[in-house]
Amino acid sequence: MIKTQSTSLKGEALYNKIRHDFIGLDTEYLLANGKKTRRVYFDSTASTLMMGPALRTAEQFLKHYSNTHSEMHFGAKISTQTYNWVHQKVLDFVKADSKEYTCFFTGSGVTSGMNRMARVFGQIRPDKNIILISIMEHHSNDLPHRKHGGQVVHIPLDTHDSNLGCVNLQLLEKYLSQYKEKVSYVSVTGISNVTGIFNPMNKIASLAHKYGTHVIVDAAQMASHAPIKMSGHNDSSHDIDSLIFSGHKTYAPGSPGVVIARKSILSATDPDEVGGGMVDRVYENSYVVKSKFPDREEAGTQNILGAIILGASIEILDQIGMDYILKKDLAMTNELMAKMIGIPDMVIYGDTDTVTCPRAASISFNIVNMDHGLVAAILNDYYNIAVRNECFCAHPYVEKMLEQTHANQIKGIKNLDNPWHIEPWMGMVRVSLGLYNTREDLNYFANALNDIVNKKDWFKNKYKINENGEYIHVEFRFSGEDYFNLSSIVEEEIKR
Ligand SMILES: Cc1ncc(COP(=O)(O)O)c(C=O)c1O
Repeated sequence: MIKTQSTSLKGEALYNKIRHDFIGLDTEYLLANGKKTRRVYFDSTASTLMMGPALRTAEQFLKHYSNTHSEMHFGAKISTQTYNWVHQKVLDFVKADSKEYTCFFTGSGVTSGMNRMARVFGQIRPDKNIILISIMEHHSNDLPHRKHGGQVVHIPLDTHDSNLGCVNLQLLEKYLSQYKEKVSYVSVTGISNVTGIFNPMNKIASLAHKYGTHVIVDAAQMASHAPIKMSGHNDSSHDIDSLIFSGHKTYAPGSPGVVIARKSILSATDPDEVGGGMVDRVYENSYVVKSKFPDREEAGTQNILGAIILGASIEILDQIGMDYILKKDLAMTNELMAKMIGIPDMVIYGDTDTVTCPRAASISFNIVNMDHGLVAAILNDYYNIAVRNECFCAHPYVEKMLEQTHANQIKGIKNLDNPWHIEPWMGMVRVSLGLYNTREDLNYFANALNDIVNKKDWFKNKYKINENGEYIHVEFRFSGEDYFNLSSIVEEEIKR
């Protein structure tokens, strides 16, 4: 087993160094006002930028790169040892006891892992067809359960001042006792990708276990923002049965999706995917599946390089300390929230009391009388601020918050068959933070929003909507090819 070195810098010192060392922080684009500026990246909830040391580690690794299924040559030994080390690193990162849990890589994010686990539970609990999820879930923690598990029932959320908060534990318990032995499992997000609101996942696990069922946590957002403790609680009912996260949201683009699950659950059925690497013997008419984890869950040649990038990134997160990162994230999100609340015509969705309802990283909003698509386009074209807009793959949640917040406005259109398809109204703008965002970025963003609010009509006149419902500037054109043309770059690289 490879020894784990302790880094010379840790905690705050490492945080202060690393936050300036991400690829793409200095990228400049020419804007609609003729200025060329550095982009301000506020779309980390979709995908985080890449940590510099993770990329440099990958470059070092490539000198030895080999297939982990080869065994005897030096490169293969290095690849295999390092690939195995990353699995153990992930288990340590989420505090999952390796005696009980395994970690395997699949696809490029949570979606693939969630489909895998939904199929596993569908196979091992075929008599139970109810899956409890919350209304705040990303489609990736909803549709796989509908397709492979049975009927999804959405647990409502706490409501404070008519704003939605986290999962309501009393209602969860009510649903668990109502559906009883029909419940196959509960699956909830650790942190919402729309509002950044946390769910009390260990309490949810405890309730699920009290009613004899299992819990999956969608940690797509949580993994890079908060410490995770899957096992080792004094009360073991708080332990999590399976947790899934995405490497590309953990400062490691190009890396795989990660599933951590109890071995006892996975061993109760045959591996979902079959092929090379997961069998001990293959005969003409039969085959013998390996009993060894994670090999039996990882058919075929895996994304070895991506796993190395992920290992480097979470090693650094771990050395900074996830408790410290959470503290910083909460402080930055609270500061951003306070600034946004002070801006006129700002509508912020979800419970905005960050004391009773803490949030990390994401805030979704609209500006009164401006479409989300227009606001996102202005932020991009005039301020070089990258945000996401629309529904963030969480239609039921976004719809519920819009419905609740704009009840009066939408009364008139509620009678139509599907009012939410009246584009471009359905949607929000989301600002989301990563380790690299600074206080200056927050001020810059708040000033940009103030400008937009003060000059709504001026900005509106600068845009037209095209046939796809997108806001297009009347004069300014952006061409991605001016900044990145793959074949010209290949040509330059060949000539080097
Ligand atoms: C909470 C949450 N769950 C699931 C997903 C899906 O992750 P991926 O696109 O990596 O499969 C996302 C992506 O935004 C997410 O934020």
